[in-house]
Amino acid sequence: MTSTVISGIGELVTNETTAGDTAPLGLVRDAALVIDGDRVTWVGPGVAAPAADERVDVGGRCVLPGFVDSHAHLVFAGDRVEEFSARMAGRSYAAGGIRTTVAATRAASDGELATTASRLVAEMLAQGTTTVEIKSGYGLTVTDEARALAVASALTSETTYLGAHVVPPEFDGDAAGYLDLVTGPMLDACAPYARWVDVFCERGAFDADAARAVLRAGQRAGLDARVHANQLGPGPGARLAAEVGAASADHCTHLDDGDIAALADAGVVATLLPLAEFCTRSPYPDARRLLAAGVTVALATDCNPGSAYSSSMPMAIALAVREMRMTPAEAVWAATAGGAAALLRDDVGVLRPGANADLIVLDAPTHAHLAYRPGVPLVTAVWKDGNPAIR
Ligand code: NIG
Ligand code: FE
Repeated sequence: MTSTVISGIGELVTNETTAGDTAPLGLVRDAALVIDGDRVTWVGPGVAAPAADERVDVGGRCVLPGFVDSHAHLVFAGDRVEEFSARMAGRSYAAGGIRTTVAATRAASDGELATTASRLVAEMLAQGTTTVEIKSGYGLTVTDEARALAVASALTSETTYLGAHVVPPEFDGDAAGYLDLVTGPMLDACAPYARWVDVFCERGAFDADAARAVLRAGQRAGLDARVHANQLGPGPGARLAAEVGAASADHCTHLDDGDIAALADAGVVATLLPLAEFCTRSPYPDARRLLAAGVTVALATDCNPGSAYSSSMPMAIALAVREMRMTPAEAVWAATAGGAAALLRDDVGVLRPGANADLIVLDAPTHAHLAYRPGVPLVTAVWKDGNPAIR
């Protein structure tokens, strides 16, 4: 195996608070990092860097862990640009728009779905995302959900079964029948391709009892739970996430004190998706209240054709800072180590010996530039599994 020392790092974000003195990012200034194979083997001050087969000098730039985007819906066909334009003209977002994408997805070939999903993963990688979770949820038949997860599993190990996204039109008036399908034959067909089970627990989608049945059935099939919770209004999603021991409650836009206490007590990560609020022109989640209560906060894109057609973690960070009053350090942590926590991973979102060699070189001296320079493509190089993926 070839070892590489990355030297000349002006600011290294390790997310290891023991590595440096600046919580939560564990910053090391004038740093170096050694990669051997697909792993980080050494991190520390540049003057103490060991020899390696190759050297890459980044000229004082900031290096940070690759972004961990723990919430994305990438297997779909078509777009909903008319819906977006209507929304910008005053119409509000509703869960029903999902059915438009379901119809287009069912009509698409496997190849078309794979092409779109891999294009989006490539778009993400170019913006620094080295780990991505991908959900099904636009097929909503046994065959279409299973093929969505087959497409997803060719692109990531973090695959999520979201058969319970909405009730499809052929089950109008028979939500119970659809629930039987989702918790029965559809789950059986999807579980072999899935790491996670998710449910859209929301008015117009699935209520608490239905969502609980979906999550429990998934858990019995060996999947871990995550929940679309409290996105469009107050509701039972966050408390249900706590009740079932989900890794993450996602969106968390409308939480009361009891919801926040439940997340904190159960150690459920709150994954905030500010691109969804941006793209639907909705009020943002209260990140400060969650952080004050000791809840672990993650940031993700929610990339999907309806509520947030963006693959950009840097944009999510900029919104978290500007609109949700997170500090740049909190937002960068949430987009890296926070996303890893939401996926129950400790090998990504962190740069320490033994971690995956997934990292970003910013064309900027510090992590804060990600929020300070919104919309500017600062990600200049990306290493994934120890190899330069973008440079
Ligand atoms: O996370 N909330 C449910 N699902 C997506 C939206 C999907 C869509 O509108 O197509 C979300 O925002
Ligand atoms: Fe989502």
